[in-house]
Amino acid sequence: MRQLIVNRITKDGPLPFPDFMATALYHPDLGYYAREPCQVGRRGDFFTSVSTGPLFGTVLARRFAAEWDALGKPESWRLLELGAHDATLATDILTALHQTAPEAAATVEYAISEPLPRLREIQRQTLSPFPNIRIVEHPDSLASHPLPGIAFGNEVLDALPFHLVEFRANTWHQLLVTHSDDHLSFESRPITAAQPALTDALAPLGTNFPDGYRTEVRTNTTSFLQPVTRALTRGTMIWLDYGFARTELHHPDRTKGTLRTFSRHRAADNPLDSPGSLDITAHVDFTATAEAARALGTTPTLFETQSAWITRLARPLLLEMEGNPNPDFLRQFQTLTHPAQLGSRFHILEISLDPAATPSDPATLNHRLNLNPESNR
Ligand SMILES: C[S@@+](CC[C@H](N)C(=O)[O-])C[C@H]1O[C@@H](n2cnc3c(N)ncnc32)[C@H](O)[C@@H]1O
Repeated sequence: MRQLIVNRITKDGPLPFPDFMATALYHPDLGYYAREPCQVGRRGDFFTSVSTGPLFGTVLARRFAAEWDALGKPESWRLLELGAHDATLATDILTALHQTAPEAAATVEYAISEPLPRLREIQRQTLSPFPNIRIVEHPDSLASHPLPGIAFGNEVLDALPFHLVEFRANTWHQLLVTHSDDHLSFESRPITAAQPALTDALAPLGTNFPDGYRTEVRTNTTSFLQPVTRALTRGTMIWLDYGFARTELHHPDRTKGTLRTFSRHRAADNPLDSPGSLDITAHVDFTATAEAARALGTTPTLFETQSAWITRLARPLLLEMEGNPNPDFLRQFQTLTHPAQLGSRFHILEISLDPAATPSDPATLNHRLNLNPESNR
């Protein structure tokens, strides 16, 4: 991997960080996610909500069954998962859906969009006991036959490549990856008007930052969301991830940004160290995600902490257990919702595909997401 990157730099010059990250994580043979899918869980590099146990999938299945109901119980509908990894979450969702909403389960197509061939193969094997599974390389393949339904992903937005930027001498700079004698390092260059996507992404952040302030910005959110919206005729997108609204994420006190690498449950912050063998991630700017969704003609309808979202959806399950608590379930519930664990850093953004949808509480939504109410539709 290091040689591959050095060769590219020698040929094309210093690499913008998204190009470096796309290679380090998603090269089809050598990328971090192209290896055996053992990254998530106790024996891997990091935990996710999925690795806490099947409760997470059970709760999602409840939300999806409610959406199927709200869509008028279509005879054919689609769940489209992005970032499905080894299909553990898909298995948990489908198992719960078959148990608790058999009518919805009988009519659903469970689609996965997965860029990596090795993961597609594993997902196909894992989901072989379930009917009506469709695994594609890109959501574009679903656009010729769109269905009503829900597109969603857990911890996929944070895995999308991002730019690393630094505020120095009153100007935003971009960090590029370069090398000398096989040693990878950063080179900093002022960002110019010739990079409109990057200047547009930085404009809303303002310039009230201390010298040397470092953060991350993504310019690929629209190109990620747009084909997903085309796979559905109507319905909702649900994105679950760690991250915050813009003002909290890009706060002047967060001087080193949120980039992290993960290996064997140890977090570090040098992505140039062993590319291909570390996960590289940064928190999601949910304001930027919601703005990209609005620009695509869809409507953000809900933004809340994982704690609030899961507690609301799991309430009926908790009530059913009154007097006879299931300790495993309670442990998973606590991990998913406790503020010191996954409850408060993780957020859920729901986006209706209906351009005329109205959020149930627009003022709270706009406030939480720092969205401009003027641009409300
Ligand atoms: C941190 S893992 C999350 C895995 C799983 N959803 C979980 O929560 O345990 C991120 C996953 O997103 C996938 N991914 C990244 N970019 C993607 C894209 N454009 N489309 C679909 N999946 C993508 C990666 O390959 C990886 O499997």
